[in-house]
Amino acid sequence: MSDITDLTQPNPVTADEHDLKRVLGPVQLILLGIGGVIGAGIFVITGTAAAEHAGPAVLISFVIAALGCTFAGLCYAEFAAMIPESGSAYTYSYATLGRFMAWFIGWNLVLEYLVSGAAVAAGWSGYFQALLADMGMHLPAAIGNAPLTFNAGHQIVFTGALINLPAAGLILVLTALLTIGARESASFNGLMVIIKVAIVLAVIVFCIPYVNFDNLTPFIPANTGEYGQFGWSGIAAGAGMVFFAYIGFDAVSVAAQETKNPQRDLPIGILGSLLVCTILYILMALVMTGVVSYTELNVPNPVSFAVAAIGPQLAWLVPWINVGATLGLATVVFVSIYGQSRIFYAMARDGFLPPTFAAVHPQFKTPWRGTIITGLLAAVLAAIFPLDILGDLVSIGTLMAFIVVCVGTLIVRVRAPRAKRPFRTPFIWVVAPLGILTCGYMMYSLSDDTWVRLAIWTVLGLAIYFAYGIRHAAPSKWTVTNES
Ligand code: ALA
Repeated sequence: MSDITDLTQPNPVTADEHDLKRVLGPVQLILLGIGGVIGAGIFVITGTAAAEHAGPAVLISFVIAALGCTFAGLCYAEFAAMIPESGSAYTYSYATLGRFMAWFIGWNLVLEYLVSGAAVAAGWSGYFQALLADMGMHLPAAIGNAPLTFNAGHQIVFTGALINLPAAGLILVLTALLTIGARESASFNGLMVIIKVAIVLAVIVFCIPYVNFDNLTPFIPANTGEYGQFGWSGIAAGAGMVFFAYIGFDAVSVAAQETKNPQRDLPIGILGSLLVCTILYILMALVMTGVVSYTELNVPNPVSFAVAAIGPQLAWLVPWINVGATLGLATVVFVSIYGQSRIFYAMARDGFLPPTFAAVHPQFKTPWRGTIITGLLAAVLAAIFPLDILGDLVSIGTLMAFIVVCVGTLIVRVRAPRAKRPFRTPFIWVVAPLGILTCGYMMYSLSDDTWVRLAIWTVLGLAIYFAYGIRHAAPSKWTVTNES
């Protein structure tokens, strides 16, 4: 009997039919990836990363984060082409690493989707309020900000505000849309991407002439004596932070069942969107730190702030940035809640979560209960926590998932060296270990508090697994079968 294993075959007994139409091609997938990627990371977090950690060298942070994502993205592409199913890293882990790792990764994907949706909504709130201010309207601070934040000693303290109402409100509205069947359509997403990319390109093109090299000098501000505050450790800490900006390119793999030729197009979508975003981000970071001093960028809307600081010449661009960011960030939140409800749905069908998460509404044909639970949880998080507290947690959880995907590709290469691989990661024994190292380095660079929060998150996940999942989980429907 041949030892060639074919991971592309779902178990014929348990594989289910699906109604999703295969309509997406490579261009739509790249647009989908860019749609899920460009959001609070570039429009908000870059400012904090530059002001508090890296200075103008946040550019190098973007390059490091891009390298980690490229290595992991290549491994994702190999898996996505082998197992074109919408559960993404959760499904890959279940098919290759077993039940426990599947739960572990699924639980980390909750950070990448649900918590990230809440984080981006908190970032959205800043731009939304800037947009209102452009129109002469002002929300009372008590209902426009998170009640919790970090103090200088990185402890969580009260801000005096009551609730971030716009952030929670956005999530509830999007959840209602998703529940009654609003599906992310390629054309809607395409329009949003065009608006976002147009704004980013406009900022780059119109602001480059105003880059002042004094602002970029010294390019790497001297370390203050504390790890992560400028110098090379600051660049590393900045990389861990701006990694958030790249999250979402892997959401392309969630569209596997709606893709015409997933084996060929998923790798193109994953790697293509990553490439476009990397180029845009590096240029954008150059412009932002070039037109104002990095020390001024720690504001909720750093892009429009930096452009406004140039002076009256570009004042016309500022409201457009606020409009573009408000629409663009809302799409990222939409994709996050959508993705999370589908991942919960996949996990519930496998028995890891109660069946209510897999309940499909008879009329709307959506996993409505799971969507509502997802939306309510995300709304509560967005109402209470600011972007930076949630953002770092999202990054560390996603980095963990990326590392497991890199490890998973290596394990499958050993276990099934001659399995069908429609996309074969080149130099896997170099690429995957580099992915593990780079992502591990970014995890290491994140604050101790973030690690503590990850530990609490993991303990919570283990408690749910041992109380429920371990007793209810069915075998993976993607099985490793021998080819004759
Ligand atoms: N990459 C997404 C963003 O920056 C999560 O908003």
